[in-house]
Amino acid sequence: MTDLAPRKESRRVTAPATVVFDVQRVRADFPALHQQIGKHPLVYLDNAATALKPQSVIDAVSSVYAHDCANIHRGVHTLSQRATQRYEDARDKARRFLNAPSVEETIFVRGTTEGINLVAHSYARPRLREGDEILITELEHHSNIVPWQLVAQATGAKLVVAPVNDAGEVTEEAFANKLSARTKVVSFAHVSNALGTILPAKRFVELAKAVGAVVCIDGAQAAPHAPVDVQDLGCDFYAFSGHKVYGPTGIGVLFGKRELLEAMVPYQGGGDMIDRVTFEETTWNALPYKFEAGTPHIAGGIGLGAAIDYLTALEPSALAAHERDVLEYGTAKLHDVPGLRLIGTAKHKVGVLSFLMSGAHPSDVGTVLDQVGVAVRTGHHCTQPLMDRFGIPATARASMALYTTRADIDALVAGLHLVREMFS
Ligand code: ALA
Repeated sequence: MTDLAPRKESRRVTAPATVVFDVQRVRADFPALHQQIGKHPLVYLDNAATALKPQSVIDAVSSVYAHDCANIHRGVHTLSQRATQRYEDARDKARRFLNAPSVEETIFVRGTTEGINLVAHSYARPRLREGDEILITELEHHSNIVPWQLVAQATGAKLVVAPVNDAGEVTEEAFANKLSARTKVVSFAHVSNALGTILPAKRFVELAKAVGAVVCIDGAQAAPHAPVDVQDLGCDFYAFSGHKVYGPTGIGVLFGKRELLEAMVPYQGGGDMIDRVTFEETTWNALPYKFEAGTPHIAGGIGLGAAIDYLTALEPSALAAHERDVLEYGTAKLHDVPGLRLIGTAKHKVGVLSFLMSGAHPSDVGTVLDQVGVAVRTGHHCTQPLMDRFGIPATARASMALYTTRADIDALVAGLHLVREMFS
């Protein structure tokens, strides 16, 4: 079973909902979609790398710099108070987006990578010892591997990896087999960026909790596609990135359970994260500010709030049905392209199609597709161990978003036939 279900009605915010999902109306909200690449209309299929931004997000960011341009938490003047209010409103939107219990447990970070590093270095590094184990999976992004390797090197703990099967799934059995009383931290992707596989996150959390481990989830690729409920998942930490949910780059959110955050020493020192500083000693500000040293990405946080408004105002089950339809259509169409091999055929997936074309290197596939206006990502997708698992150096990856249409898939397939003609 998947944990990713359509957003619940109760999670919706006050913006008017689009009752029936009207993809053309949605597309009109994204100015970057409406451009030519050479003679061809843009077909943007690189959404797992970053999603395009609706006008409301662009306007929100722009209005910060145009009207409310001030530092936050520091000024008594009107601009500072307006900027502070907007930033803290955005934090509450992020809290609701994750169904986190409180804004104190909703920390703004630069993105998922920084969120995981914060957990690794502030929670795990001071606590782990030789003989302890950190469990991850074979499909992790480098940002959910390297921070744990750094912790392992510093502490003597061991990095343990749950394998993926040929479909690109991590089965419950494969995951459970790697858990033991030695497992102190578990960190896994809710959704694979390279393959689109949805992991059974709630079940994995239950299994990890049964051995007493602390659980961190990389939600970068899950948050754009379905609701996240950290209380229902039962995880200790959950990170996602703003730019993948139609918000700005350089901003993201880390949820952490209050009792853990309170016990942790801050990851970075600086302004705003302190209560009192002397040369002898410093005491920490209250949560969440304890983990937010320095002037933050104020416009980014406010833009992320606007992105959350946009995403959660769409009718949840209609959006999910639309994304599922385009994925199923795309999967069937790619199956029919001679010489194409899909990598990642999990039963439960989001809209990611990773593939190889016989006779053509993935970067050649990407270059030819770009010539006809189709943007895909090619390479190892920051998952080199996963590529090693499949015995391949790279794939071409088409990744979808809420504005992706069947016509986009048709353009991709037409481009792939061009690749065949050129390379077979
Ligand atoms: N992690 C992003 C991707 O999968 C950049 O493309």
